[in-house]
Amino acid sequence: MLTNDLKARLIGRAVKAQEHAYAPYSHYAVGAAVLTDAGEIFDGINIENAVYPLTVCAERVAIFKAVSAGHHKFKAIAVVTKNGGSPCGACRQVMAEFGLDTLVFIADSTGVLKQTLTVADLLPLAFSDADLAES
Ligand code: THU
Repeated sequence: MLTNDLKARLIGRAVKAQEHAYAPYSHYAVGAAVLTDAGEIFDGINIENAVYPLTVCAERVAIFKAVSAGHHKFKAIAVVTKNGGSPCGACRQVMAEFGLDTLVFIADSTGVLKQTLTVADLLPLAFSDADLAES
């Protein structure tokens, strides 16, 4: 389980990261922060592009930064938006790759927690390596 202090730190990092969101097209800034099993925090922001589909979500940036630093197990991920918006389907699938039990904290830009769920709650019946093994 996560202490309240650690939860607040993780959400705080996502709030701070959100300041750097690059969202000149949607103006919808997103900040994320992922806590590894080892206790390290990696943050991320959404990065948009004039070629709209090339946009990358904040959750995936945070997760990819952590994975590229060698981390594959995550205790929790915090996602921060102005209205406490929910992670998109693509990000849910990327979260699922690294564990269905990871906690997901959804908060607003002031850091107020709106929802706590697991990745499994967000993506029932996720596609996984087990599906590939059966083919
Ligand atoms: N966005 C995220 O960063 N994460 C999500 O889970 C949902 C959407 C971003 C993508 C785009 O820059 C903006 O929010 C509006 O869709």
